[in-house]
Amino acid sequence: MKKIALLFFLLILQQSCKISDKPTGTRSTADEQGVVAEQAMVVSAREEASKIGVEILRQGGNAFDAMVATEMALAVVYPYAGNLGGGGFMVYRLQDGDTGALDYREKAPLKAHRNMFLDSLGEPDREKSWFGGLAVGVPGTVAGIFAVHQKFGSMPIEEILAPVIELAEKGFVVTPKQAASLQRHREEIIKYNNDTVLFAREHEPGDTIRNMALARTLSRLAVNGREEFYSGETAGKLVAFLQENGSIITPEDLATYEAQWRKPVEFNYDDLKIISMSPPSSGGIVMGQIMKMIEPFPLHKYGHNSVKAIQVITEAERRAYADRSYFLGDPDFVDIPVETLLGDKYIETRMDNFSFEYATPSSSIRHGSIPGYESLETTHYSIVDPQGNAVSVTTTLNGAYGSKLYAEELGFFLNNEMDDFSAKPGVPNMFGLIGAEANAIEPQKRMLSSMTPTIVEKEGELWMVLGSPGGSTIITSVLQTILNVAEFEMGMQQAVNAPRFHHQWLPDEVRFEPDSFDDGTLNALSKKGYKITVGESTILGKVDAILVLPNGKLEAGADPRGDDAAAGF
Ligand code: DON
Repeated sequence: MKKIALLFFLLILQQSCKISDKPTGTRSTADEQGVVAEQAMVVSAREEASKIGVEILRQGGNAFDAMVATEMALAVVYPYAGNLGGGGFMVYRLQDGDTGALDYREKAPLKAHRNMFLDSLGEPDREKSWFGGLAVGVPGTVAGIFAVHQKFGSMPIEEILAPVIELAEKGFVVTPKQAASLQRHREEIIKYNNDTVLFAREHEPGDTIRNMALARTLSRLAVNGREEFYSGETAGKLVAFLQENGSIITPEDLATYEAQWRKPVEFNYDDLKIISMSPPSSGGIVMGQIMKMIEPFPLHKYGHNSVKAIQVITEAERRAYADRSYFLGDPDFVDIPVETLLGDKYIETRMDNFSFEYATPSSSIRHGSIPGYESLETTHYSIVDPQGNAVSVTTTLNGAYGSKLYAEELGFFLNNEMDDFSAKPGVPNMFGLIGAEANAIEPQKRMLSSMTPTIVEKEGELWMVLGSPGGSTIITSVLQTILNVAEFEMGMQQAVNAPRFHHQWLPDEVRFEPDSFDDGTLNALSKKGYKITVGESTILGKVDAILVLPNGKLEAGADPRGDDAAAGF
């Protein structure tokens, strides 16, 4: 009798978890389903931004109109990473199957030079590439949204920006996670600004933050368009502010900035076609190499997060990240052998010394040999509109609140993206990533990224839209989320919730989310020579995703590791 009562209770619990209008953003049980919508969905780091995106879709706007609105709404409500002072990447797939990508990554200023972050002993000075004016790359976000609007927009920009401006004026409510984050970075924000700027003030959960300066900047953008930011009043104020704070960015840097349309990286994995970001992001190539290296292994048989599955994925990651550090950089400056790196022959040779018996030490792995080759805090949102257009966008200031420099008069933080360059070949950056010549600093060059906005097709139809923040862990978080659905038959929310691990060649360690992997698995890996790290980074990625279900409905996966939320209809 007790057993029947327990089963009944579990059934009720399961059903109540499936109610689609429940608040998202709470850590859920493994079988929880995300928000399900009939026609359209936006999943982003904040509920307010997802709702504004969906509102634009309800008014008849397409996924690109919704992108512009969501991107700017995140700049208001999620200054941690949402931005006007940063950059990003967008991958799209139109309803007719056409694909493309937009690169609105920051660029090194014209006056930048190779050794600009080295001290008198020739060692990288992290203070300079992480904080303050010198860390700032020429921002690309505003160019990005206007490029998207010009090519695909269907609604007037004033109408798209109207609800965002209203949000900035009326304010948004600080969540507990946001209050904690602002508190954590308060000292630094004060140090690089002063204690009166908006985000240097004490903010408690439940407080409302209004950003009138940002509302004014957005209003000017709505009227004057892209040029407002790159050569108008905003440009003048921005350059003056930056130069007062030690930046080498000039009016010419802003005036010459252009977002670039790029061809996305596309490759097959079993019956899936993956469409992901091309250089200057490493995301698509590195994920492609990893997926192609693991494709021959029956992961579903090994089981989710089993010792064997973790080994195969880790060893593929080791080899792909070693290639990343050597070959990848800005394609406008370096030749990247994309086809070879993703070619079957090359991929086979990369895994030929793999063994289930023991870990391959990273010290024995270098980049692969390609004959003739010469020597290169973030947020993601996913959108599907009622027509079936899909947009996958990752945008960033790099570190939390970027360089911490806050342009009070304009209402936004400036990025510290210059740290994504290799300040000195062979020396790790903020994410422990090692770069080489291909990612050395040069004027007007884009710094290498790991951002991996991705769209997946199954049997020629739209299947999944996803991406993540998390620096070097972005690629492996996106990879595992795809595998969780494709190999381990999870739903979208479940795949996003599932515990993740990460390896990136150097440092030679495998990082696991805490309290998520059993000791047996970790001990078995340890015995084979894997160095296990648990808990130093509590969060590996923060994935926001949409899955097209077999019945054509859309299931959201909003990452409970943050305040992320889905909205749809
Ligand atoms: O472009 C990159 O790879 C980094 N700037 C991303 C930074 C990031 O994801 C930080 N967020 N957690």
